[in-house]
Amino acid sequence: MDILTLGNELLRGKAEPVAKIDDELKQIADEMLDALHKGKGVGLAGPQVGLMKRIFVVHVEGDEPRIFINPSIIATSEEMVKYEEGCLSVPGVWADVIRPRALRIQAWNERGRPFTMEAEGILARVILHEYDHLEGVLFIDRLSVRKRERLLAKMGKVRQR
Ligand code: NI
Repeated sequence: MDILTLGNELLRGKAEPVAKIDDELKQIADEMLDALHKGKGVGLAGPQVGLMKRIFVVHVEGDEPRIFINPSIIATSEEMVKYEEGCLSVPGVWADVIRPRALRIQAWNERGRPFTMEAEGILARVILHEYDHLEGVLFIDRLSVRKRERLLAKMGKVRQR
């Protein structure tokens, strides 16, 4: 599985709901987790591997690997926090992003079972970052224009969108 990087327009598309959670999808989720581990990342969303479906995988240190299918963010904390983010699709760029500290999310797992969970800290951070990918949003979009342009200039790419 190849991870698409900034400039590939699939990263800017909106992912479609997963219609059926079957063995094929479970296989894809496993491959996404492999790609995530290989890339030493903490989260990976469908569009990042060219799959325009609402699925992402997350694996943060000290936690189990998690698969989210057709997720909805039901609630977010009013409290916002700043934390440094990077992205396998925007290699070599890290920047502080402000997001809610905690959230509640509803999704389906790879066995087709719905679940609801609460997350905070790094897990919440990664979930929100991955959810953005399903909407075609990258973490650099959440920076000020000036900061984004400076980072991208450093990266040697033209500004996207
Ligand atoms: Ni990312």
